Amino acid sequence: MSDSPPETQTAESLEASPRFAPAESRRDWLGLVAICSALGTFVVALIGALRLPMPSVFPESQSRMKLGKPDAFPLGSTTNLKEASVWIVREEDGGMYALSAVCTHLGCVAMREEDGSFLCPCHGSVFEADGAVVAGPAPGGLPWLELSVSADGQIVVDKTRTVAPGTRLMLETKPV
Ligand code: FES
Repeated sequence: MSDSPPETQTAESLEASPRFAPAESRRDWLGLVAICSALGTFVVALIGALRLPMPSVFPESQSRMKLGKPDAFPLGSTTNLKEASVWIVREEDGGMYALSAVCTHLGCVAMREEDGSFLCPCHGSVFEADGAVVAGPAPGGLPWLELSVSADGQIVVDKTRTVAPGTRLMLETKPV
């Protein structure tokens, strides 16, 4: 017969068994990962919350575009500024105007036809070469946009400022 009771032997052998050893190192590692994830999420959310009051796009800088010197627009030319959805028209007398290509119906970009008119591909509105609407459903013509000359002599279009149709920027033409 042995000196110690059988229950004590069983408990000791269980404690000694690696199978029942507490997996503290793995638990610690998972806990550390969880804490780091939570901290990371909190920091990102905090940065986002702090940036909320600050506009990420400055309307002024996005609405005004420098287009280059007037020479970039030959007399009698029509230039498509695709990135701005704007057409720049330079007439034979040197006058310039900017026409928004954004349809006044639902905002699709109107395409210029061979005859100089504009056709909206979405619902078929038709505009004359000067932007006047001739067929709906567009409720109005293509807007004329403000053109100006910057201090460094470049043409500037402001996409947020409309002018009355017929308002042109007059530029001096070089004598031939
Ligand atoms: S968006 Fe141009 S006609 Fe509808």
